[in-house]
Amino acid sequence: MKKITKAVFPVAGMGSRFLPATKASPKEMMPVVDKPLIQYAVEEAVAAGITDMVFITGRNKRAIEDHFDTAYEVEAELSSRGKLDLLRVVQDVIPKHVNCIYIRQPEALGLGHAVLCAQPVVGSEPFAVILADDLINGESFVIKQMMEVYARHHCSILGVQDVPREQTRQYGIVSTTNLEPDVERVNGIVEKPMPMVAPSTLAVVGRYILTPRIFHHLARVKPGSGGEIQLTDGIAALMQEEELLAYRFKGTRYDCGSKLGYLQAQVAFGLMHPELRDEFAAYLATVK
Ligand code: G1P
Repeated sequence: MKKITKAVFPVAGMGSRFLPATKASPKEMMPVVDKPLIQYAVEEAVAAGITDMVFITGRNKRAIEDHFDTAYEVEAELSSRGKLDLLRVVQDVIPKHVNCIYIRQPEALGLGHAVLCAQPVVGSEPFAVILADDLINGESFVIKQMMEVYARHHCSILGVQDVPREQTRQYGIVSTTNLEPDVERVNGIVEKPMPMVAPSTLAVVGRYILTPRIFHHLARVKPGSGGEIQLTDGIAALMQEEELLAYRFKGTRYDCGSKLGYLQAQVAFGLMHPELRDEFAAYLATVK
C-alpha cells in the first residue's frame, strides 16, 4: 500500500461570496480568530503525517505563498524587540520538514480541473484533497480519521455528512449502502442535485482521499454543473472501476464559504481559544 504524503489544496477560486473582502486578497487568507483558513487546512494535513502541500493557485493568491515562507523582516523585528512568543507563532506557521509546492491553475475551469492540475506533482500516488472553506473541528483531524479508513480499505474515500434536504443543491450528494460503522460503500454520486431528485441527503464536504486513477477520469470528463469540470463527475467515473467509500467523519463542520458559516466558525473557535474564551463567553452572554 502506498503511503499518502501529499495533500492538494485548490485555492484558485475567486471568493465572490465575500466581495469586497476578497477583491484584492485571497478568501483562504481570511482569519478565523487569528489564523487564516488555509493554515487550519495545512495544520490538518500536517497532523495526518502529510509532508508535501500542493497548492493550486491563481491570480491574486500571492499572499498564500508569502504566508508559508519565512518572513525575515517580521522575524528580525520581533526578535530585536524580544517578542519571543510572537516570533514562535510566526515561525511555527509550517514545520520545517514540510514542502510547499505551488501550481497555477491558468483558468478557473472548476474544482475537477484544479485537482487535475496537481497531476505532475502527485503522479501515481494516492493523495488527499482539502478544501479550506470547510473548517472542521473534530476530536481528531478529519483527514487523519480518513487515513485510518484508507489503511483498512486502500481505496478512494469521501468525507460526508448529512445535510437538510433543502441544501442538496450546494453539495455533491452520494447514494450508499452501509459497510461498517460510519463507513458507506458509494453506489452513486451527483453534483448539486435539486432536493426533489437528490438520491439522499448525504453530502460530500471538502475532504477527499483519492487514488491517482482519478486523473485519468478528470482529463476526460465534460463540463458539468455550472459549466465547470467537476471533481464529482471524475469521482463518478472512477467509481465504475474502483471501490469508493464515504466516511461519516466525527466533528462539527463550518461552511466558511458562506457568511453565516464563517461567523459561526468565529464564535466556535473564539470560544475555544485559550487567550479569549472566558472573556468572549462573558461578552456573548451579554449579546441579545
Ligand atoms: C464543492 C464540490 C461539492 C462539495 C463541496 C463541499 O462545491 O463541488 O461536490 O460537496 O465543495 O464544500 P463548492 O462548494 O465549491 O461549490
